[in-house]
Amino acid sequence: MLILGIYLDNAATSFPKPQAVIQSMVDFMIENGCTSGRGAYEKAIEADSRIYQSRKAIARLFNFNDPKKVIFTSNVTESLNLAIKGILKKGDHVIVSSLEHNGVWRCVKTMERDLGIRISKIPCSAEGYTLARDLEKLIRENTALVVMTHASNVLGTIQPIAEIGQICRQYRIPFLVDAAQTAGAHYIDVVKDQIDLLAFTGHKSLLGPMGIGGLLINWEGDICPLKSGGTGGDSAYEYQPDYYPNKLETGTLNVPGIIGLHEGIKFIEKEGLDKIRKKDAELADYALARLKEVDDIILYGPQDSGKIIGVISFNLKSKACEQIAYELDQNFGIMIRAGLHCAPSAHQIIGTEKSGTCRIGIGYFNEKQDIDQLVEALKSISIN
Ligand SMILES: Cc1ncc(COP(=O)(O)O)c(C=O)c1O
Repeated sequence: MLILGIYLDNAATSFPKPQAVIQSMVDFMIENGCTSGRGAYEKAIEADSRIYQSRKAIARLFNFNDPKKVIFTSNVTESLNLAIKGILKKGDHVIVSSLEHNGVWRCVKTMERDLGIRISKIPCSAEGYTLARDLEKLIRENTALVVMTHASNVLGTIQPIAEIGQICRQYRIPFLVDAAQTAGAHYIDVVKDQIDLLAFTGHKSLLGPMGIGGLLINWEGDICPLKSGGTGGDSAYEYQPDYYPNKLETGTLNVPGIIGLHEGIKFIEKEGLDKIRKKDAELADYALARLKEVDDIILYGPQDSGKIIGVISFNLKSKACEQIAYELDQNFGIMIRAGLHCAPSAHQIIGTEKSGTCRIGIGYFNEKQDIDQLVEALKSISIN
């Protein structure tokens, strides 16, 4: 597999992709290339079937039994907007974690400004953990939604979604999980974890291409569509159909993207989540241990791979994070991310809301040598 440089930015998007992901998309575009849900000719029906198979694979991965309630979107940001804007109404109250990505935070803040919804944040520890019991104190009569990221994209901390899910069910409040960082990297079971709405993106640990994501709806309540338009059927009806997936899925689908995503899921199933999770944890532990060798390093978050996914934030006391990332790239060919990572709330917890952090995102195709090279490069950067 050809990789130019050392890629440690998998929390932004995974790279490289399994060859089968790329090949499946190319093959479809050469051999079929037809739209789904519209035509009645053979190739269009084949495209339909590929889409349905992909819905089934996604449902299976998250232990869900209703593929038609797997809604395709362009990314998790759209999925989160669809769920949040489709459920919350004027005067409602929403509870979010203290670690949310702007995909959630900007969405609820905009609704607070424009519609007067009320927001409560569940506090979290200095290491970036939420205690489920803190949720209960915030529930009000008009609480209409609880939203929580499964794992922080700044600190990597895994949140207690099963316990939160249990409390939400008890109070009959829909529970929306942002699985951007965990889908394909960590166990998610919508039944056991009592998740009502699961938002995911295809291009991170699910190993698919960019431009495809989804929302899994394990909930009977009403969600108002974000978009209206063509669904390929019921064309004389002047409103959006009220059955799934057409209710929330409109316009021509990203068929090659959905096929590539399906192939990414097949790869995950073949490797096995246990193996994927084990490798991620081993590399995270290795990275945490080796990074400590760098003299002026500050590591953020818990230093225990049992509590995080392979996302680690750090700074060097001697240099700004942007400078470190620049030098790693230019002088060592190592790609990491620097800044606030679209999650300013999480930085408030660790006091880096002004400086930002360097972040490594470990992926399934990283090896210990990548960490070794990062550590040696950081040692050199920190003394120069
Ligand atoms: C926790 C979290 N939520 C949302 C997003 C947004 O993902 P996307 O750009 O695929 O919509 C990301 C990725 O950057 C993330 O890490």
